Formats: sequence, structure tokens, C-alpha cells
Amino acid sequence: MSRKFLQIIGASLLLSLSISSLYAQKKKLAQKVDSILHLMTLEEKIGQLNQYNDDQAATGPVTQDNDKIGQIKRGQVGSLLNCVGVARTRSWQKVAMQSRLKIPLLFGQDVIHGYKTTFPIPLGEASSWDLDAIESSARVAATEASASGLHWTFAPMVDIARDPRWGRVMEGAGEDPYLGSLIAAARVKGFQGNRLGDLNSMMACVKHFAAYGAAIGGRDYNSVDMSDRLLWEVYLPPFKAALDAGAVTFMNSFNDLNGVPATGNAYLQRTILKGKWGFKGFVVSDWGSIGEMINHGNVKDGYEAALSAITGGSDMDMESRNYKNSLAKLVADKKVPIALIDDAVRRILLKKFELGLFDDPFKYCNEEREKAALNNPEHTRIARSVAAKSIVLLKNENNILPLSKNTKTIAFIGPLVKALKQNKGFWDVEVPGVDSEHIVSQWQGLKNKIGATTNLLYAKGCEIEGDDKSGFGEAIAIAKQSDVVVLSIGERRDMTGEAKSRSNIGIPGVQEDLLKELLATGKPVVVLINTGRPLVFNYTADHATAILYTWWLGSEAGNAIADVLFGDVNPSAKLPMSFPVSVGQIPIYYSHFSTGRPATDDKNRIYNSSYNDLSIFPKYEFGYGKSYTSFEYSKLQLSKKKIKQTETIEVSVTIANTGKYDGDEVVQLYLRDRVGSIVRPVQELKDFKKTSLKAGESKVIQFKIDKQKLSFYNQLLNWVAEPGDFDIMIGSSSRDIRVKDSFELIN
Ligand code: BGC
Repeated sequence: MSRKFLQIIGASLLLSLSISSLYAQKKKLAQKVDSILHLMTLEEKIGQLNQYNDDQAATGPVTQDNDKIGQIKRGQVGSLLNCVGVARTRSWQKVAMQSRLKIPLLFGQDVIHGYKTTFPIPLGEASSWDLDAIESSARVAATEASASGLHWTFAPMVDIARDPRWGRVMEGAGEDPYLGSLIAAARVKGFQGNRLGDLNSMMACVKHFAAYGAAIGGRDYNSVDMSDRLLWEVYLPPFKAALDAGAVTFMNSFNDLNGVPATGNAYLQRTILKGKWGFKGFVVSDWGSIGEMINHGNVKDGYEAALSAITGGSDMDMESRNYKNSLAKLVADKKVPIALIDDAVRRILLKKFELGLFDDPFKYCNEEREKAALNNPEHTRIARSVAAKSIVLLKNENNILPLSKNTKTIAFIGPLVKALKQNKGFWDVEVPGVDSEHIVSQWQGLKNKIGATTNLLYAKGCEIEGDDKSGFGEAIAIAKQSDVVVLSIGERRDMTGEAKSRSNIGIPGVQEDLLKELLATGKPVVVLINTGRPLVFNYTADHATAILYTWWLGSEAGNAIADVLFGDVNPSAKLPMSFPVSVGQIPIYYSHFSTGRPATDDKNRIYNSSYNDLSIFPKYEFGYGKSYTSFEYSKLQLSKKKIKQTETIEVSVTIANTGKYDGDEVVQLYLRDRVGSIVRPVQELKDFKKTSLKAGESKVIQFKIDKQKLSFYNQLLNWVAEPGDFDIMIGSSSRDIRVKDSFELIN
């Protein structure tokens, strides 16, 4: 017998042993869950399905409840949210240990873009197109939060978003299902780490299931009406990708989908999630969303709401109290079989076992570990690097950037220059004993970077909002004394987020007027735009000398901005959402259909699907973002021009860094299925590679095209690849296609 053969036998033996030990472990856990379940009264079972807000923070309308302690002692609560820190979680866990069965509480929290160390808002981070960086930021967040007593984050939000009026665009990965799916998986892996139950791992919660991102008119909590095709092809893939990456919990959403609220939606939660996809974890409702079905108007009262939610597949009730108030009666009335309750309880108890909380309810409560995790310089280093990777260079006239470190005088102007907390973005966890001093302001970041000979001048100029121009004079005066102006403007951090829908998404107040005045001095003006969403800023786009879209970058904002401004980091980020020219274009996204009368910007357009008064193109397209260097694309080669369903095409393209700086390029591959039984988009992102190139260096980048990349949902919702011609487009953005070819799929 050859050595290789023995090795193969050995490896498969090991594999089957580990599979069977995994199976045995699972069986053992299931038995443990059942042994507890058998001891539980109906009231205690319902208790496990009940989640309350602690009073440390409120992320929704709070119900006054003075008997939380009593209810926890009676085993009527399974989980708390908005309760952070070892001291606080320990004290609540001690209360739970006074209950009859001593079932530990789960502590959940919105750890969305970092815990103590904050990272760019998710949409900003998505601009990095750097999956390792994104995973590492979630890893840091989980390391800190789990050390601080938490078991569960309500993240990642994987809602596809194509309407920047919707404030929650900031929380997702943008408009594209392919990019969104990869990012969803990276975030889940980051949060959950190697194994649930490891001390630095926390449960991810994929949200909001489903289609919340398509709220009509961009109004938060609004209805969603969409075709099955759109649901399956665009809105569901990131959820599936997160599940495949191991996500153990899901949160449903506030919206109704085609008339059925997601919370009571059996098609979404039972048929798709727990049925077709085989999800074994549990589903938590969104805040109060069980009770809110009464407002939707498809149930009459709390009793019916609880019935709809439990039969619809919601396992845990966040804050609405309808499970607590109605489930027992629903069981007594024989409306809800006890098996349904048992299934929900089992799912929740299993996670408590997997986290190791039954072995040690205080496992995540260790002050020493908390202190070390919250003061880890490595976390700061990662935050700075991820932040710099998230900054998008939109414009760079005359290559004004990067600035020389020997610039004599820089005027740093704007309402966000010295701000601290603003850099944190919307979802900010108030960690006890930790304050804004851990944030590097933009002012401090520049001070840290410049040499002794550079003179840095400051003026606020104006506020973010309002029409007060009294600070303009001082700003203009320092601009005149400088070689270059850096102007930091944008939104307040709470202008984009939950319940922050806006119909006017321009740069607020008189900030663009200030830019106008500064440009009138004749000095070059580099604009930093701080925000959570794509804004409309045509004046700035057309007149500023350079623009860096900084989003909200988190604790290391100042240092990251300075790294990019002075060229220590060459920007490489690309927009994950289309930026409209006007609110009138919304919803706008690159992967649209062609239509029967294709839209053009042709001046003589008539009887086609364009606007009469507006371009059909965005101001900045999906995938757009500049670099300090330039990249040339050439030599697109396909290994075959015709493939069968079982075959693959190897694609290669040469990328050359033709500029002066080392840099990273996101090479984007788009496909178009020219004729489909269902109309296909004019372009779909199907792959990308982020690659580093030294100045002057060339690399061959390779992709593979297989049946999976050519498939779509046909009219019967079957995932098929249809024979025919496909266009392949590779480029630096969805519009900046540099090389093209085509191929044919045959049967
Ligand atoms: C949000 C969720 C969040 C929950 C708890 C809700 O209002 O929609 O995303 O996780 O509150 O804070």
C-alpha cells in the first residue's frame, strides 16, 4: 500500500471520526436541552421566549415595567438587551440564578460598528471591498463585547438598500447582492469566530428578515411590495450567505412584505428560513414588532398578534410582551400547539448550551479580561487601518492629493474638524467608564501627522445645520493665509440611522456656501464629506478641488484621514451604492433592466424611458473610487468562448500600475446575460479581486466563470443557467469598463 493511500485513509478516518464526534456532541446537547425542557412549566417556557430592554439605553419605545427583577426571578425572561459591561451583566445573571431552574439569561446588544473601539459605519466599511478587513473589524468588536459580558450582537444587517433617503442604508453593505453576500458572510465569521462558546465569540444575528431595505419611499418602517424574483435574486442572497457562514440567529423586520408583516410571515420564516434553508437557530422579533402587527392591521389585538408571530416562526419576542401576555391562553384555547412553543424554547436553550452558559452562567463576566480587551492597542491599529481603507477618493483635480508633509500652511476648516463623538456614527454603545476621549478627532489626526514646520490653522466656519454665516469671515481669513484648505463638512452622526429617513439629502445648512466662499479665495480646497449615506452634493462635486468621502470612520477617524490626506495610505475604496445627481433619480442602481425603450442621455431623446429634465446616470456610480495612482487594464483572455453547463471559463486580465504610487485596485467583473426567459439586468457584479500593485508593477488577475455565476431564478423560481450569449465586462467601476468580450453557454 502506498504512503499516499495510507494518508488518504488516515485523513478520511479522522474526518469521519470528527463528524461522528460532532454528531455525538450535538445529540448530547439535544438531550440536555430536552432534559431541561421536561422540567419546565408552560410559564417558564414562555419566559424563555421573552426579551426585555434593560434601562441602560433605549433603542425603541420603552414599556414601563417595574417588575423586571421579579419576572427574572420567576423564570419569565429569557434575554435582556441594552445591558452592557461585566458588572451589569453579572448582576442580572445573579438574579436569574435565583429562579427555580436557574436558566441563564442571554445578553444581546447592537454591536454594529464596533464596541469600545469603533469602526467605520458598515456602509463605509463596505467601501473597502476588503473582506479580511471587514471580518477583522467584526472580530475586534466581538472580542471586546464578549469580554464585556455580551453573548449576542444584533448584527450584521444585510438588507440591500437602493434608496439613500432611507437612514438605515448606513448599516448595510449597499445595493448589490453579490458584494452584500460576501460582506454578510465576512461579518458573521468575524463575530462568531472559530466556534460559538469560545470566550471571544458572540452570536451573530442576521437582520432584518426580510426585504426591509426596500421600504417604499425610503421611509423607515414602511411597507414593502416586491416581486418574488426581486426577493429571491436581490434581497434574500445576503441572508442565505450569512446562514451558510454559520449565523445562529436571525431578526425579522418591521415591514410588511406584500401585505404580510415579516414578524408573522410564515412564508419567510417557516417555508424559506426554517424549511428550505434548514435554519436551526432562533428568530428574534424586531423591537416591539409583534405588537406592531396590530397597527399594520392584519391582527386585531395582542392575542392575535402572538398567534400570528408564533405560527409565523418568530421564536423570541423583543419587548412587545405579547408572548408573555397571550401565549399561555393561546395554548389553553388550543390555538397554539405546545409543540410550537417547545420548538422555539429548544432553539433558544440550545444556544445557551452552545455558549457554555449552563456550565458557567458567569463565563463572560471577568473584569480582568474586560479591562484587557477594552485597552488593546492592536484593536486601535486595526480600526485605523480599516478606516483608511474605507475612505473613497471621489475627485482629485491637478493631483492636489496627497498633500506634501512639508506644506507650509494648511487651513483646516469646518464644523467637524474638532468633533469627537460625531466620528462614531449612529450606533454607538455607551460602554460604562469609557468616553469620547478614545476618539481621535480629525484635528488631532492632522496634528499627529504634520511636521514641525507645517502651520495648521483652524476655523469652524459654520455649524452643520442652520443658516448662520457669522463664522465665514474668520474661515476666509485663514484660508487666505494658507497653501491649501481642508474643509470638513457633512451630516451630524444622528442624521443617518434608524428612523432617520430624509427627503432632502443635500449637505445640510450653509456648509456648501462656505465652500463657495473658500474657493473664491483661489486656494485649492480639499473637502472631507462625513456622513452615513450617499448625499447629493453637486456644487461640491463640480467645484471642490478634491473630495474624500469619509463616511463616519470611528475612533481612529482623525489618524485614518491624515494617513490618506498625506499619502501614507493610498485610497482604494469603491462606492457600494450609486450616488444620485438628484433625489428625483431614486431608486437608482447599476444593475437595472434595459427596458423596451432603453434610457439614454442623448439630447434628442424622445419616447424613451429617460427623464426629460435629468440625466439617467448617477453622479458617482457603483464601484467608483479613485486612487493616487492609475491602473491600466489589458489582455483580457478567456480560456474558452463556448462552454457547456458543466464547464468553466478561466478569465485572465493584466492590470498595470502606471502611476507614481503603490496602490490597491478593486478589479470588478460584471456579466450580462443577453437573452433570458426573464429579463436580465444590463450588468451584474459576479466577482472582484482587490490587488496591491507597486508603482510600475503589472499582475495577471484571474477569475473563473461557472454555471453558478450564469444562473438566475426563472419564472418558476428555479435557479437555472440558460444557454445563450453572455457579455463579460471588467473594469474599475460599473461604468468604467476597461476590457470586454463575450462567450456562449451551450447545452
Ligand atoms: C432595530 C433593530 C435593533 C433593535 C434593538 C430596532 O429598533 O430595528 O435593528 O437591533 O431595535 O436595538
